[in-house]
Amino acid sequence: MKDKFTYNTEMAQTYETNARISIPTYDALFGMVQSYFRTEISGEDASVLVIGAGGGKELSTWGPANPEWTFTGVDISEEMLKIAQHKTNQLGMSHRVNLIHGTINDLPIADEAFDAASCILVLHFIDNVQEKLELLRSIHAHMKPGAPFVLVSAYGDRDATELKDRLNVWRSFWLDAGKPPAVVNEMVNTGIMKISFLPEKQIEGLLRESGFTHITKFFVTGLFGGWMCHAGGTDGLDIECDV
Ligand SMILES: C[S@@+](CC[C@H](N)C(=O)[O-])C[C@H]1O[C@@H](n2cnc3c(N)ncnc32)[C@H](O)[C@@H]1O
Repeated sequence: MKDKFTYNTEMAQTYETNARISIPTYDALFGMVQSYFRTEISGEDASVLVIGAGGGKELSTWGPANPEWTFTGVDISEEMLKIAQHKTNQLGMSHRVNLIHGTINDLPIADEAFDAASCILVLHFIDNVQEKLELLRSIHAHMKPGAPFVLVSAYGDRDATELKDRLNVWRSFWLDAGKPPAVVNEMVNTGIMKISFLPEKQIEGLLRESGFTHITKFFVTGLFGGWMCHAGGTDGLDIECDV
């Protein structure tokens, strides 16, 4: 898997502040995902796979409130992982967190099947559709049948005015936060529009093709959308679908 984009120290340090501007509902998002996981996971113990665990938002939101949960976090950015490690140390939960520097392919082969998994704000950094599909398939392969999965990603059809309108909404978040218009224009041209947008139907198709079922869109803010679903059984995994 290509890892051309990675967070440097400064980006990692300002990540959470900027995420809250880019996605004003950033904090609420993690609360919603926690509610979903709590409802879907049977029993108190749960092993949770977090793809893109750098920054530590998933671990620091879900960890303290769910003392029986253990976490395996994967991230390609060493700088973002350092922040996640620091947060877990501060929260006294490092004994139930395993952080792995790399991609999902670096998970131990004989690892457990997870009770829940998330991939929040990661998929749009992978340009190639086949690589996106491979990531989702690998996540599915590491999950128990029926386990809940949450995907959050930028989405949209680059040719549609709908995405242009949502881009203007996103621009308004930054302008209102005090960024000069020229800086916001630069962020649009050299930053946000360089990430990989897929139309939502295509994202849902990738989830289905990877074996996920009960796919429900639960979240939209600005440029980003979120889907909740279940890991289906292994039957019918090769259903044809347009990617
Ligand atoms: C925008 S941050 C999101 C972090 C966290 N999930 C959150 O929502 O606050 C994206 C993270 O995904 C990581 N990342 C990008 N591609 C990845 C991949 N293929 N596998 C694992 N992590 C990846 C980046 O290094 C970065 O830490």
